[in-house]
Amino acid sequence: MTKAKPPIAMLAELTHRCPLSCPYCSNPLELTRQEAELSTEDWARVFREAADLGVLQLHLSGGEPATRRDLEDLVCAARDAGLYTNLITSGIGLTERRLRALDDAGLDHIQLSLQGTTPEMADEIGGYRGGFARKLQVAEWIGKIGFPLTLNAVLHRRNLHQLPRALEMALEMGARRIEVATVQFHGWALKNRDALMPTKAQAAEATRLVAEARVRLKGRLVIDYVPADYHSDYPKRCMGGWGSTGLNVAPDGTVLPCHAAQTIPHLRFESVRDRPLTAIWYEGAAFEAYRGTGWMKEPCASCERREIDFGGCRCQAMALAGDPAATDPVCVKSAQHLDLQARAAAHAEADSPLTYRSAPGKPATEPAE
Ligand code: SF4
Ligand code: FES
Repeated sequence: MTKAKPPIAMLAELTHRCPLSCPYCSNPLELTRQEAELSTEDWARVFREAADLGVLQLHLSGGEPATRRDLEDLVCAARDAGLYTNLITSGIGLTERRLRALDDAGLDHIQLSLQGTTPEMADEIGGYRGGFARKLQVAEWIGKIGFPLTLNAVLHRRNLHQLPRALEMALEMGARRIEVATVQFHGWALKNRDALMPTKAQAAEATRLVAEARVRLKGRLVIDYVPADYHSDYPKRCMGGWGSTGLNVAPDGTVLPCHAAQTIPHLRFESVRDRPLTAIWYEGAAFEAYRGTGWMKEPCASCERREIDFGGCRCQAMALAGDPAATDPVCVKSAQHLDLQARAAAHAEADSPLTYRSAPGKPATEPAE
């Protein structure tokens, strides 16, 4: 068994319900229904267990966390447990009054998603008419109340040209940070690869724009950047390394090493309903499976980068190579790397309609007209 350190962050997926239906959603294709969600009391206990385990930051996510009517109580419970709280939201479902109640409950930070920089783009990608106007209103309230704000722009082939405007919007909204996240292909995004895959030229231009903006906006705006990894030569250090710095709790209480871990068929996951979080983190078979470097095969096992990227993303290795212990095919040392680059180019040239994320218990919606 690898000696694990305590996690720093926990992502609590409070619900899979969401008014938007973004085709890039990282939620699983099989969404959890409301009846199966953890109760307020369950979550409060989980937050205490997380704090006891050593978690410092709690990310309240979904779906849309604001669809939980007890969100204010959950924030209060997290604050009482001593956790730093970040609300990851589309803004839909938040009113000024609700934001003030969240402020009173002790919410520390808000991360607001951006589907596009024009109403046409944002409303088309979110599948929600009027969503863009609503989001601008919410951003104004966030500024007025004084929450620290991060803007989260998910970029793909259809909206990468809007990156310069997204940076301007972050400044206009008073955000301290923007996350420029090129779509990662898990969950619904994997289903939409033909519609969303950026071209190699777009990926290179985004990297150039981010580098230039980091210099120009130094001291005014922090830019976190997730590049288009199918077009890269080395993979991302997914989750900071499996079971090393963070964990996710799904709406029904299932504890996951990452949001896509359930796509790895042989892993067994445990629930906070059955076992304390500390035992799941340190002893759970799913967390032990790819912790550290002992599970690696060649070329990762003897690679000088093995403790830099930990072989990339296990879920991507599963999806692309059919083996979660394989080298992530994004890596130049993977036997599948050239094939992946060719497939990325083919996805980027395909002209597919969007398949929107469904609501829990419902089939995916038809492609947009
Ligand atoms: Fe990372 Fe494995 Fe590639 Fe080395 S061979 S760079 S450890 S993915
Ligand atoms: Fe599961 Fe990367 S998303 S390890």
